[in-house]
Amino acid sequence: MTSKFFLTVCSGVCLLVAACSPSQKISITKANSLKEAYKNNFLIGAALNTSQIQEHDSVADNIIKQHFSAATPENIMKAEIIHPAWDTYNFDLADKLVAYGAKNNIKINAHTLIWHSQLPSFIRGIKSADSIKLYMENHINTVAARYNGKVYSWDVVNEALNEDGTLRNSVFLQKLGPDYIVEAFRLAQKAAPDTKLYYNDYNIEQPKKRAGTIEIIKKIKAAGVRIDGVGIQGHWHMNDAPLDKIEESIKEFSALGIEVMFTELDLSVLPNPRGRNNSADIAATTAYNESINPYKNGMPDSVQQKLAKSYEQLFQLFLKYKKNVTRVTFWGVDDGQSWLNDFPVRGRTNYALLFDRKLQPKKAFYSLIDLKNN
Ligand code: G3I
Repeated sequence: MTSKFFLTVCSGVCLLVAACSPSQKISITKANSLKEAYKNNFLIGAALNTSQIQEHDSVADNIIKQHFSAATPENIMKAEIIHPAWDTYNFDLADKLVAYGAKNNIKINAHTLIWHSQLPSFIRGIKSADSIKLYMENHINTVAARYNGKVYSWDVVNEALNEDGTLRNSVFLQKLGPDYIVEAFRLAQKAAPDTKLYYNDYNIEQPKKRAGTIEIIKKIKAAGVRIDGVGIQGHWHMNDAPLDKIEESIKEFSALGIEVMFTELDLSVLPNPRGRNNSADIAATTAYNESINPYKNGMPDSVQQKLAKSYEQLFQLFLKYKKNVTRVTFWGVDDGQSWLNDFPVRGRTNYALLFDRKLQPKKAFYSLIDLKNN
């Protein structure tokens, strides 16, 4: 029997119609959109940069609307941008993002309230604990309250841990002591009662850091304060995403009765000059040399395949725990946007995401679509 196939694409759904003899006509509906493919499992998100929030590029804009049910601002809700001076707040881009989310049915995960990095420069001039406390209160009361119920969720505290699971020696720990995390969640709960509240960090699938995270979550709960979920960032390498540790983390975090999310997923394909240390600590950079930028003229097909396979294995695991995993967010839409082009080495050409620099879907994209269609 010979069959002809017609492919129709409409609003993210492919209709594959096999035209055989009239009696054999069949119709198979296939998702051609990430958010459609995974809609019964978890939200699919992307980090958006300023240009994407401002809808400068219509091709990127169409991709965002077609494929993503969630979005995280890559930078514009961080303290240095949204709260640049003691009494000054800059809400323009965040307001725009919130309106964009509402219009396009995209849930916004706001990022982030309390983080040691990208703090406004005035913080460096603050010497007293009372003033840091007041900064934290003002910041959360103003920013979280403004977007209460308008953003779906907040990364309330970001990256508070060292690799060994102890608390990072941030300005907040130094001035306020270890209870600052509980206090941040307490303030956020009051300011944003209609928004979900999360703790977010990298490498927390690793046993020691995972234990530190569990301690934080238990402490927040023991204080009678609300925490709704934990975000495992997911900045990994395509050769060694730690699947067993990720699985163990999903189990242990879910056992605490909270949502588990993968919040900043990307898979580097480039050599890591620092060995297997997949830190996302932006202070840890290395000098450029040609040997660690092997694909500057294009990614070989073998690497393309490997990246696709690695994404597929991760999503197989996420699907296994679809009852516990509520969102998977990629840290960017396309390879050109990725922070990994400049970290841990400036000026390289990385290929960590699902869409290439021309905004075309890569093999990795199709592998994730096929995982749901087959
Ligand atoms: O805003 C300036 C701009 O004025 C200037 O022209 C430009 C020149 O380089 O720099 C711009 O600031 C950059 C900013 O991104 C916006 O593009 C900073 O230099 C750069 O350091 C900053 O990098 C961001 C990084 O966080 C900083 O911490 C990355 O885009 C962003 O992807 C990254 O995201 C973090 C998450 O928030 C937390 N988890 C780790 C993740 C990756 O580092």
